[in-house]
Amino acid sequence: MKVLIFGSGGREHALAWAAAKSKRVTEIVCAPGNGGMAAVARLAPVSLSDLDGMVALAIAEQPELVIVGPELPLSLGLVDALQQRGMRVFGPTQAAAMLESSKSFAKRFLQRHQIPTAAYAVCTTVEEVEKAIELFHAPIVVKADGLAAGKGVLICQSRRAAVEAAQGLLNGKLLGSAEQQLVIEEFLQGEEVSFLCLSDGKYVTPLVPAQDHKRIGEGDTGLNTGGMGVYSTDEILSPEMTHWILKHIARPTVAGMAAEDAPFVGVLYVGLMMTPRGPQVLEFNARFGDPETQAILVRMENDLVEALEACIDGKLAEVEWKWKPGASACVIASSGGYPGSYRTGLAIAGLDAKGQLPDADGVQVFHSGTAMADGKLVTSGGRVLGVTAAGESLQSALDQAYVALKGIEFEGIYFRRDIGHRALKKQGA
Ligand code: AMP
Ligand code: GLY
Repeated sequence: MKVLIFGSGGREHALAWAAAKSKRVTEIVCAPGNGGMAAVARLAPVSLSDLDGMVALAIAEQPELVIVGPELPLSLGLVDALQQRGMRVFGPTQAAAMLESSKSFAKRFLQRHQIPTAAYAVCTTVEEVEKAIELFHAPIVVKADGLAAGKGVLICQSRRAAVEAAQGLLNGKLLGSAEQQLVIEEFLQGEEVSFLCLSDGKYVTPLVPAQDHKRIGEGDTGLNTGGMGVYSTDEILSPEMTHWILKHIARPTVAGMAAEDAPFVGVLYVGLMMTPRGPQVLEFNARFGDPETQAILVRMENDLVEALEACIDGKLAEVEWKWKPGASACVIASSGGYPGSYRTGLAIAGLDAKGQLPDADGVQVFHSGTAMADGKLVTSGGRVLGVTAAGESLQSALDQAYVALKGIEFEGIYFRRDIGHRALKKQGA
């Protein structure tokens, strides 16, 4: 079987790595892929913002399965376009992907279906924002409606700051393009959990839970990033809590989308805040998380391709799941300066011709921002590598990842040394 994966990050490298283990897969093409994925796939150049180009590539390749990784092609309707041409595609349609691509759609959907989420208002002008925030206490969260690669959420410590943030989003000064709509939200406190599920449009299966570390600095300080590291253990959620989230959040979401004629087939990533009044939905993503996927897939013992095909065929309920017990962790090595400006094209030392560590059995280096230049691996993005390991305990997974990181070098390399700190503290308590 030939599989075509759209995307170029660590998530897609992990998807390609897992797909390569499938008995049925004979060929993997990654479009556009990155420097580390060449070891498991053939790379095909394409722009993830060019719908026609992606469709033309899929037609030329004739894969038996297409997996769409990132949100941008989903929001452009790549799944719809390929389905119309008779292809088997894993991922939600444009209408279903609105759970991620429009925060106002998601909030109104949550309210319509009585799914727990922060109080909110949708505004289109500064005057509306000024009026709406009279009902909110600081801190106030101001969000751009559309996709903003993690940069569209501002936590404001006063009403005045919230109005300024709203102004900046509406006039385009903050994100580079003017937002038409904003969501104003109540600030929630608690621990965040990434609850990823597979859905075939009707049935929902949770993957193992994970916790991301979004801030650049240790102790969860500094600017937001795409994610600096993730761990996964079963202890993140008790069986009762998992059941509660399925019953009150994940299943009603999938049932609600089906009832609204936009059945959701794909990965439903529910970003949760575990608040004193219970889990609340912070956001939906309509795709695998990055770097959650890296940590989740090293624990998955199922054949990934079979599981994704079961979603496409409406047979998810028939899949029997098998996960490695224990834990996993993915630590992101980023370019110095990220999430601000950083240099690229810097040589990466310590990895072999396959982009892996030669002496680190059991550790997977998933590449995010790497490229090949003159036959050598170089940095090409903010997040560069996701060093990932599974272990019997969280400590052993983290130890393997951190030992492995000692063998990798590029100028300005930065990684957080405290991934999993909350869980380790709880285990020690
Ligand atoms: P989002 O893209 O909506 O998930 O927001 C990105 C990040 O901003 C989340 O992962 C949270 O850390 C934070 N955030 C978003 N909404 C809220 C909220 N209502 N209260 C507190 N933090 C939030
Ligand atoms: N790790 C956060 C995300 O994938 O959106």
